[in-house]
Amino acid sequence: MDIYNFGKELIVEAGKFIETRMTHEFQVDSKSNPNDLVTDVDKETEQLLYTRILERFPDHRIIGEEGHGEDINDTKGVIWIVDPIDGTLNFVHQGENFAISIGVFIDGEPYCGLIYDCMKRDLYHAKYRNGAFVNEQALKPAENIPLNQSLIAINPKRILSDATRSPFFEIMAKSRSVRSYGSAALEFAMLAKGQISALMFLKLYPWDYTGGVIITGELGYKTTDIYGDELPLLSSASVISGNPKIHGEIIEHFKDDKTLHEFHDAFHDL
Ligand code: IPD
Ligand code: CA
Ligand code: CA
Ligand code: CA
Repeated sequence: MDIYNFGKELIVEAGKFIETRMTHEFQVDSKSNPNDLVTDVDKETEQLLYTRILERFPDHRIIGEEGHGEDINDTKGVIWIVDPIDGTLNFVHQGENFAISIGVFIDGEPYCGLIYDCMKRDLYHAKYRNGAFVNEQALKPAENIPLNQSLIAINPKRILSDATRSPFFEIMAKSRSVRSYGSAALEFAMLAKGQISALMFLKLYPWDYTGGVIITGELGYKTTDIYGDELPLLSSASVISGNPKIHGEIIEHFKDDKTLHEFHDAFHDL
């Protein structure tokens, strides 16, 4: 079985693990601040992904939000970038609206992207240059809907900060309306389905965005940082993703404002 099909089976297995595990008691801790939560289920799911990948492909490397691959500082060979639960706050507070996200890269080039909406049991998947799908159904190419006719998704906590609100507010005001679903991976999935036209984040990590960037890229959506530069695989970045028209409109707002770079590093994880 190739890496793509193995990945699809693995992410569904990990989703079933979460569904069962969450019916039993689990511990909730905080990380960088009291609102940055992690549970036993995040850690155990990352361990399951790590163990299974290495059992099958001993020479692959894994970077995960909950600590695996912290020492990885080059992109040689096969690298799996995994977020065992994207939307931990939703997982803890709502018991739904969270996903597993995986991006696989070979020598730094995209290979496949996978997002599993665990409670809906929907698998979003794409092998680079082979189209994108939800379960067995092909997803439609991006349509160039402009900002003033679009729903856009954001992380409100960061955008409400004094330092950043002004350029973001201008964009939000021009949109049809704004949504915040609490899982960047599921917001990429909504972009892939055409339910929103863009998403804007001041700070995300590769495990939040790589799966989604590969899937939506297959459909013609464009993703860069706020200054239009390509996203990194080994460090955090701002993320603007959308159809090419709206992406261009949003990037235009940031082109004269280089100050946001300074704030990016100061942001806590939320
Ligand atoms: C978070 C979610 C959320 C985003 C945060 C991320 P996590 O990931 O993707 O939508 O706004 O910045 O940290 O911590 O739940 O895996
Ligand atoms: Ca987290
Ligand atoms: Ca995440
Ligand atoms: Ca996570």
